Amino acid sequence: MSPQAKIHPLIRREKIQATIDRLASEIARDYRDKNPLIIGVLKGSFVFMADLVRRLDFPVEMDFVRVSSYGNQCETSGKVKLVRCLATPVKGRDVLLVEDIVDTGLTTSFLLGYLKRKRPNSLKVCALTNKPCRRKTPVAIDYLGLEVPDKFIVGYGIDWDEKYRNLPDICFVEMEC
Ligand code: PRP
Repeated sequence: MSPQAKIHPLIRREKIQATIDRLASEIARDYRDKNPLIIGVLKGSFVFMADLVRRLDFPVEMDFVRVSSYGNQCETSGKVKLVRCLATPVKGRDVLLVEDIVDTGLTTSFLLGYLKRKRPNSLKVCALTNKPCRRKTPVAIDYLGLEVPDKFIVGYGIDWDEKYRNLPDICFVEMEC
């Protein structure tokens, strides 16, 4: 018999939006005169990225990368592969990498290596959520939204088998056998 899943709110939309207000203020303080290149990691960061950049009242440029890392629905294979490269030149730019979640850290670590080789002027990470208990490789998060517990998280861009990205709250999945 296949397990049933219940979806419970973990971080409500109001708290997410207040968190993004704070992150946008921190980013504005540091990047206002730098015309930063803000790079979102598809697909998960698309909702967060859209909400974040609309709070920045100064010139920014945007691009997206996409990597594939997960071997199955919820466990990382440990191998990260670039699926969509960056079209925008990075050399000399002030780059901000935007993630919805840092979990094992393998995706962010891989992307930082990829971007560093392109010789940006500066390179920082903004993550809406962080699951430090799952870390397999150290990652410094310069602008962090919220820490989340070791639960199966969905919503606000984060999927379970490509579903639930459209939930406005960050939720956790409870499996019932
Ligand atoms: C998720 C998330 C991060 C990454 C974090 O993406 O959006 O990019 O996993 O996990 P890690 O720290 O263990 O590497 P995923 O690979 O599921 O693809 P998606 O964004 O298309 O859902």
